[in-house]
Amino acid sequence: MDNDPGMMPFGRYAHIVGWGKAVPDRVVTNHELEKIVDTSDEWIRTRTGIHQRRIAVDPAETTATLAAKAAREALEVADVPASKVDMIILATSSPEHMFPSTACIVQDLLGATNAGAFDLSAACSGFVYGLSLAKGLIASGQADNVLVIGSEVLSRITDWSDRNTCVLFGDGSGAVLVQSSPVPGGILATENGCDGSGSDVLILPAGGTKMPATLETVASGQHFVKMNGRAVFRFATRIMVSATKTVLKKANLSVSDIDLMIPHQANERIIAVSMRSLKLADDKVFRNLQYYGNTSTASIPIALYEAMEQGRIKPNDTVVMVGFGAGLTWAGAAIQWSVPTAKETSFWREGQRSASYGLARARSRLLRLSRSLSTSLISDDGDTLPQTLSKRLEDWKKLFESDDKEE
Ligand code: ACO
Repeated sequence: MDNDPGMMPFGRYAHIVGWGKAVPDRVVTNHELEKIVDTSDEWIRTRTGIHQRRIAVDPAETTATLAAKAAREALEVADVPASKVDMIILATSSPEHMFPSTACIVQDLLGATNAGAFDLSAACSGFVYGLSLAKGLIASGQADNVLVIGSEVLSRITDWSDRNTCVLFGDGSGAVLVQSSPVPGGILATENGCDGSGSDVLILPAGGTKMPATLETVASGQHFVKMNGRAVFRFATRIMVSATKTVLKKANLSVSDIDLMIPHQANERIIAVSMRSLKLADDKVFRNLQYYGNTSTASIPIALYEAMEQGRIKPNDTVVMVGFGAGLTWAGAAIQWSVPTAKETSFWREGQRSASYGLARARSRLLRLSRSLSTSLISDDGDTLPQTLSKRLEDWKKLFESDDKEE
């Protein structure tokens, strides 16, 4: 086991086989922020490295719709239908509701009828925490296909009059499909940590059970992100280094083995200081925060997607991801990229996929409608109307998928 750290108890390895990204169309530049708070393009660029960010201005664009878009693309790259997904892990710092989980809404949008789904709250470290859980589910034989998504609409919990925070964040989503495989490699090791003594350093104070919503909490802006930037900065530069070293050690690797480092895209200075401390060459570190700002849980999967797009990851490369966030939390993952980095999809397959998402929408509408009409109508099998409809749709879907296998 020591010489083969990715090896799972049942010989099952966890590989990232699909990747997707979704960002809102609206670009907000630093110059635009100059008009709403006392800041400057120059200050933002030099203190953070951020030039612009994407903001979801359309109310119909939400944490779930962005997540579903990214997830669909990841499934497409992996060439796996939504019905084969066993678990959806959605890491987010800006969930749509306290409950239900945003992951459940995504499950419905995808029509992932065989999946369990839950939200993961570990702030910006959430996506990498999710990779760790996906690896565990696969290792234990509980799942073969796990969607891990990081999705955020932080702009709706940002105080646009607070220059300390509003210049930093952006909206977006990134997703991967983690799949079991007998091929050695994949997610070799993960490291998840937290120091709850720093829970007040970065916080959204109100709206939970400790500080329920009142007129006062709204009036005093307690439903917006509050941050002690300097404390986060100090923590981040230290923890990015130690988390990287720990996860490399767990994977029997060293810094010189890294082909590509994907750090959490929070601040260029945090990345520069910690990577210098690791003695990692600049060309081995991926950066895209200039375009998106800090998208919290989405930052690493969006960066991964763009690294793939730019051909920065090749088969057999060692990729390390490392992040930090509110909690305070941190997480790292060491991955040996053992699957092809590009896949062909046929025209037929694409048509089939969009038909299946159409079916998912129809299914969701029918179930909602039938639920609102009646839960008391019982079929001969003892099923309620929603259950009957759901079964019928599942039968159609199976028929549809068996046609595909024959094809
Ligand atoms: N424009 C102009 N001036 C500003 C701005 C701004 N947007 N923001 C702060 N300043 C001012 C401050 O008021 C201060 O002025 P003063 O000296 O008169 O008091 C001065 O700039 C310097 O402030 P610092 O806080 O020392 O600035 P610093 O260089 O530390 O940069 C920053 C601030 C960018 C927030 C930095 O501390 C940082 O990146 N911290 C980490 C934040 C982070 O990564 N958060 C996300 C965590 S992940 C998650 O879970 C969401």
